Amino acid sequence: MSARTVIVTGCSSGIGLALAVKLAKDQLKRFKVVATMRDLGKRRRLEDAAGDALNNTLEIKELDVCSEDSICTCLNSIPERKVDILVNNAGMGLIGPVECQSIDTIKMVFDTNFFGLTRLVKEILPDMKRRQNGHIVVMSSVMGIHGLLFNDVYSASKFAVEGFCESLAIQALKFNINISLIEPGPVFTEFETKLYEDAAKMDLSSTDQETAKMFQQLYLPYSEKVFHALGQTAEDVAEHTVKVITSEKPPFRYQTNNLYIPFTTLKFADPTGNMHVDTFYKMVFQHDRIFNASLNLIKLLRWRSRNNPGGKHF
Ligand SMILES: NC(=O)c1ccc[n+]([C@@H]2O[C@H](COP(=O)([O-])OP(=O)(O)OC[C@H]3O[C@@H](n4cnc5c(N)ncnc54)[C@H](OP(=O)(O)O)[C@@H]3O)[C@@H](O)[C@H]2O)c1
Repeated sequence: MSARTVIVTGCSSGIGLALAVKLAKDQLKRFKVVATMRDLGKRRRLEDAAGDALNNTLEIKELDVCSEDSICTCLNSIPERKVDILVNNAGMGLIGPVECQSIDTIKMVFDTNFFGLTRLVKEILPDMKRRQNGHIVVMSSVMGIHGLLFNDVYSASKFAVEGFCESLAIQALKFNINISLIEPGPVFTEFETKLYEDAAKMDLSSTDQETAKMFQQLYLPYSEKVFHALGQTAEDVAEHTVKVITSEKPPFRYQTNNLYIPFTTLKFADPTGNMHVDTFYKMVFQHDRIFNASLNLIKLLRWRSRNNPGGKHF
């Protein structure tokens, strides 16, 4: 069987980079990877990680998901414009009180996370339909399932992604096209670094003192602890994504982090939504000591399992 062409967006760092390299180094050589990024000046890290796969099973091309021209130019450079698998990975985060964020910034998050996906799908889906074959893999987030304090806009953009995909998946199946949403919890990438850097510089003068204090003194340290207790590496997420891509019947939703599943389950367990809202409220504002202690325990258990190669891994 000939290699399938996979286009991956946002490969300058993080999950996109790890996934492009993993697919390109596939032992069975099942993939030809078009690894894209909006700024080719950042290609060095990917080139180094790709090693021998570069210009062999992995090609680097420019693609900005916010520009239709850029998407078309990239697709037109692929033989017959044939894409077997689209991995929509490019994305950006935004945290903080909504009253401190400009509408332009909020639009930029949607332009990247939601409209970026729709631009790509509009270009690639018709050909997949003609060929009655294809797989669209979308890097969503657990925040596409539930909302989280000070993540209002980011979460909304991922909810939009999830609604779009859930609707489209039904039609797509008629054309033998699968759609899969990958839903990681916290992942150690530049995403996190950029978020905390931006948060440190954020002008909080448009909000009240209580909210500013809640964001800086409660949310930020809390969120850092959650990242360190529950976080995965980009390589872990890439490995899970390869499983989804190579699966005979790809799942529509796939959560990559078992430790996070108790939180997302709250959302599915109660159609009123109260269980999710109340539990997160209590976790943050009432039982923060117990929650912090649980995070420390998880951290310890993960550390022990990593240092005990025969043991169970979390
Ligand atoms: N890290 C997490 O905790 C986490 C958790 C759940 C889901 N996710 C999702 O995973 C995906 C990848 O994030 P990551 O964690 O790997 O973060 P990352 O290291 O910051 O990677 C994001 C990538 O998206 C690219 N990008 C941003 N805007 C773009 C645009 N307009 N056109 C093309 N590329 C663009 C970035 O390029 P530049 O270098 O040019 O900015 C970068 O390559 C995102 O969709 C994110 O929402 C992340």
